Amino acid sequence: MDEDFLLMIPGPIPVKPRVFRAMSMKILPHRGEEFNKLYMEQSERMKKIFKTKNDVFILAGSGTAAMDAAIANIVQPGDKVLCITSGKFGERFRDIVKAYKGLVIELKYDWGMPINTEDVKKALEKDPSIKAVTMVHNETSTGIRNPVAEIGKIVKNTRALLVVDTISSLGGDNIEVDKWGVDLCASGSQKCIGLPPGMSFISVSQKAWEVIEKTDSTCYYLNLKKYKNNKYKAPYTQPVSMTYGLKEALDIIDEYGFENWIKKHEKMAKATREAVKSIGLKLFPNDEKTCSNTVTSIKVPDGIDGQELVKLMREKHGIIIAGGQDHLKGKIIRIGHMGGVTEKEIIVTIACLQMALKDLGYNTELPSILTPIWKL
Ligand SMILES: Cc1ncc(COP(=O)(O)O)c(C=O)c1O
Repeated sequence: MDEDFLLMIPGPIPVKPRVFRAMSMKILPHRGEEFNKLYMEQSERMKKIFKTKNDVFILAGSGTAAMDAAIANIVQPGDKVLCITSGKFGERFRDIVKAYKGLVIELKYDWGMPINTEDVKKALEKDPSIKAVTMVHNETSTGIRNPVAEIGKIVKNTRALLVVDTISSLGGDNIEVDKWGVDLCASGSQKCIGLPPGMSFISVSQKAWEVIEKTDSTCYYLNLKKYKNNKYKAPYTQPVSMTYGLKEALDIIDEYGFENWIKKHEKMAKATREAVKSIGLKLFPNDEKTCSNTVTSIKVPDGIDGQELVKLMREKHGIIIAGGQDHLKGKIIRIGHMGGVTEKEIIVTIACLQMALKDLGYNTELPSILTPIWKL
């Protein structure tokens, strides 16, 4: 494939050249003073992104490693966990709980439907022995933002821990770990933070530590007690180049201003939604108020093959968008607008999407500037 392709999937994202330049610096000894200082500084800076005073650890491994760490450190066989599922990644948490032989109580919604917070309240009242509640803040498979703040208020008054996946929203949407009462918050490098894949982050509250200390965890590499008790919060060799990259990516966010960085995501999301609606397409989420800040899911119009559409975008226009996952394959498309994505990439993507749809027989009137290009 031509290396000039435009990557518009909901992560990984196109990484800025200055992040790659930073990553090409000479490898430092991982136990040396210089690297430890760099590493500890970045863990501290990540607290601002999570909006927390809790411990934040950097893990080597993709976002799923942080999800795995969250569950493996608190769940023993037979422990009850309320897993809220309304998409692929909520289901992943459920499957991780099963892998550690936890007892899953699933609160299941159709993909694309909002979570009813009353259901969560009732489930916790019905069974006060529930040890944890898992949920996804930004369900990348459907393009929906779930109500963590509201669920946090409910879980706070119980013995249960609130475990949240913010892999596709941290840095691109407002996440307030402390205010919302999130006990374990898992995230990843390759989305709104602006790094390549391979690094993940986890924040751990005092309430979570109390459970972790009492849990006889079977995990070794991701055992959070080892991270906490290590002088540098890093028991094993850390990804040195990615740490250089993280510093650069956080510098970019700081130069932009963190709140402005989030606002930029909000604007790109709104622009994408309005643009696709203007060409007659329908958003996948039932209620636009639940739409994600970082990924837009769009229904494929009747009579169009969604997989063909994704293929045409890639082969004819060099733009990679995502299709639907699992049972939504061919039925929806997803456009990511994370990290450094600006209106420039949105304009090109939607213009090419409209031309690709027209190629596939969709009845749409191209704007005058696109007609001669489409006829080429
Ligand atoms: C919401 C969410 N959770 C979990 C994951 C899995 O993360 P990773 O592929 O980095 O392990 C993803 C990846 O797209 C995601 O979007």
